[in-house]
Amino acid sequence: MDINIKKICDIAVKAGYLALARYNENTGEDSEQSKSISAVAGKESHRLIKEGLIELYPDIPIISDEEKDISYDEMSQIEYFWFIDPIDGIKEFINKVGDFTVNIALIKGRAPILGVIYIPVDEIIYYAEKGNGAWKKSKNKKPVQINTSYTTPEEGLVLLKSRSHPSLDLKRFVSNFFINKAVPMGSSKKFCVLAEGKADIYPRLTPTGEWDTAAGQCIVEEAGGLVVDINHKPISYKKRQFINDNFIVYSSINTMLFKPKSENIPIHHATIQRKHMEELNKHRSCIIWLTGLSGSGKSTLAHAIQEQLHYLGCRSFVLDGDNVRHGLNKDLGFSVFDRQENIRRIGEVTKLMMESGMIVLAAFISPYKRDRYMVRKLIPEGDFIEIYCACSLEICEKRDVKGHYKKARAGEIIGFTGISSPYEEPENPELTLNTGETLLSECVDEVIKYLMKASFI
Ligand code: ADX
Repeated sequence: MDINIKKICDIAVKAGYLALARYNENTGEDSEQSKSISAVAGKESHRLIKEGLIELYPDIPIISDEEKDISYDEMSQIEYFWFIDPIDGIKEFINKVGDFTVNIALIKGRAPILGVIYIPVDEIIYYAEKGNGAWKKSKNKKPVQINTSYTTPEEGLVLLKSRSHPSLDLKRFVSNFFINKAVPMGSSKKFCVLAEGKADIYPRLTPTGEWDTAAGQCIVEEAGGLVVDINHKPISYKKRQFINDNFIVYSSINTMLFKPKSENIPIHHATIQRKHMEELNKHRSCIIWLTGLSGSGKSTLAHAIQEQLHYLGCRSFVLDGDNVRHGLNKDLGFSVFDRQENIRRIGEVTKLMMESGMIVLAAFISPYKRDRYMVRKLIPEGDFIEIYCACSLEICEKRDVKGHYKKARAGEIIGFTGISSPYEEPENPELTLNTGETLLSECVDEVIKYLMKASFI
């Protein structure tokens, strides 16, 4: 399905202008008048969006709070459909608090694959398409890509709570986390604020319509966050009555898994610890984390460093993407969520191996800054050595050892890093190696020199 998201954004903005004109008519002094203005605004916005979508894509059905022309049984036959919520945050609209939004989402099967949220009062639009990241565009400005927060749960989280839908369970749920600040907010704007990294957790423990969450879910997921039910399963769509159960929006998997699922698990302290293993090995342990595009030479370099370390009498081990995905992580794919879980598990494994006294070489694309930061924060300062294998896409594609780039260009692999999925370059890696042009032996020498200078070996 080829959808022009820019055109969908234009429709949302036009609907937002209409709604804003009505919002400005509302004096907020007479609640009956405010309610009837909001009802008119909802209908007008709905009509404009519906007409716009039908003109562009006449074959895709539309479902909204205002209109459900299709029966549930018919729905089960349909692969694609639009969810529209012409004004979300009607209470905010009526009370003149400003947070109301216009929402359009495209569902494929049971998942949102495109989401647009416009905030008329702020004149800001957020949008996302599966595999293309999440974006924010303010009026007269260029779009900027947005990411969820880098805060670790230990540092304290920013909680978003529904302004109009308080819930008794919220207090109990929140007591599981270390919350720094709680911010009340209305409408689907909460998804946007979380997607752009200004908050970390948004529990919604009262029922919602699927049209209330679909666009927000797509935006949050593309920004690196998660929208899940209380059992940590992603919420799916096309349920009977189109009603969602309780859900929670998290900035990352690290926030979601802050507390172990089971209670009553003590920690045993070993008598033989890392320092004892290091004494035995006669070198210190650490994690050498190699990040870069597929084909940038991470694994080749990791094994070459290992050979040199072995020659020098140091214990080391290589973990690499292809191999780990055949075992420990064979259940994971390449969505933002799966890549996050891939790196989280590997982070935990490298930490254990480092504690056993090894020099661990981890060669993973690890395309997201936030995921690499998550591992860095797991490891004592100085012991996580991030090495950026800087090799241009042109060179990686020319090498194409595994034939993946060719397939990705032909659309046979979707969401391939560098082609149809982003790679975020490290800002402050411990080392950057030009693995595209520098000789392998020179790269190895640089790493060994680093390890010697930092007294690891
Ligand atoms: S990561 O992004 O989650 O860190 P990882 O390093 O584990 O990736 O695995 C990357 C390897 O998986 C690549 O070298 C390539 O062989 C293979 N692969 C298969 N599909 C993809 C994809 N869509 N994007 C990137 N690599 C892929």
